[in-house]
Amino acid sequence: MIEFRDFSLTYPTGSRPALREIDLVVPRGQFCAVVGAEGAGKTTLAGVISGVVPHMTGGASKGSARVCGRLLTETPPSELVGEVGLVMQNPFSQLSGARFSLREELAFGLENLGVGRAEMIRRVERVMADLRLTALADLSPYELSGGQQQLLAIGSALVMRPAVMVLDEPTSQLDAVGTGVVFDALETLRAQGVTVVLFEHRMERLARCVDRVLVLDEGRTAADGPPADVLTDPRLADWGVAPLRYTTAARRAVGRGLWEEDRPLPVTLEAAADGFAAALKSARTTGGL
Ligand SMILES: Nc1ncnc2c1ncn2[C@@H]1O[C@H](COP(=O)(O)OP(=O)(O)OP(=O)(O)O)[C@@H](O)[C@H]1O
Ligand SMILES: [Mg+2]
Repeated sequence: MIEFRDFSLTYPTGSRPALREIDLVVPRGQFCAVVGAEGAGKTTLAGVISGVVPHMTGGASKGSARVCGRLLTETPPSELVGEVGLVMQNPFSQLSGARFSLREELAFGLENLGVGRAEMIRRVERVMADLRLTALADLSPYELSGGQQQLLAIGSALVMRPAVMVLDEPTSQLDAVGTGVVFDALETLRAQGVTVVLFEHRMERLARCVDRVLVLDEGRTAADGPPADVLTDPRLADWGVAPLRYTTAARRAVGRGLWEEDRPLPVTLEAAADGFAAALKSARTTGGL
């Protein structure tokens, strides 16, 4: 579905590449997260997958990058509409500016695709229900809070039913409830077989729902694998990514005999609770406590 081969990209004003020698194959239906420090190249990678970079930013590339078999550097972004949905880091910049209500804004992309009216209404109502936006349907997009605009930007991409969804920090302006709504919507996408690439800082939610985590460090792939491996990698902090609290707590407990040495470090609350309970039980039976 997504296939990068030895792909590098340098912006016109850049002294060094923003992406370097990326090899990445994301099969259809995979849910992949990308993490990395500020400036690591996350937004650039999101832009390449969705056709924005280098077409709208300029830049020189090496190697190849394909989505749905199409060579991205040779495909204008307009030809990817409907295949790749992009949710940008700043939701405000994604509003069309041409529609007066949230409902009309959601229908905007479908009108451009020529989708029939009945189907359009069905899809818009569905997305509003999934993202808990129905009560806001008649408000102007500009009256919404940052978090509501973020949900609208996500809805505008979802409504197009793309084969690939790229989301660049989609929960940055959302509270815990809004973040939950977004992750629930992403789970639904996964169940529908949509390929999802999520650039995100909320590692706790990530750890339990993605198939794969890729770490970018200064434009390179520093790590790539299942969340339980990548998020417990001791080098995570060196790459500018804060480890999960559960992992840190368990790592500290190992040296004190409060985490079994052969038990993997946890990336979820449940795994941490199980591990501490097991260590406590064995300490009790061996008279350690
Ligand atoms: N349009 C652009 N023109 C020139 N340089 C750019 C452009 N966009 C990003 N860069 C540079 O490319 C590098 C990667 O930036 P990018 O925005 O992809 O990182 P990021 O991981 O998304 O960071 P953040 O966590 O701050 O969103 C940085 O050095 C940045 O300054
Ligand atoms: Mg970014």
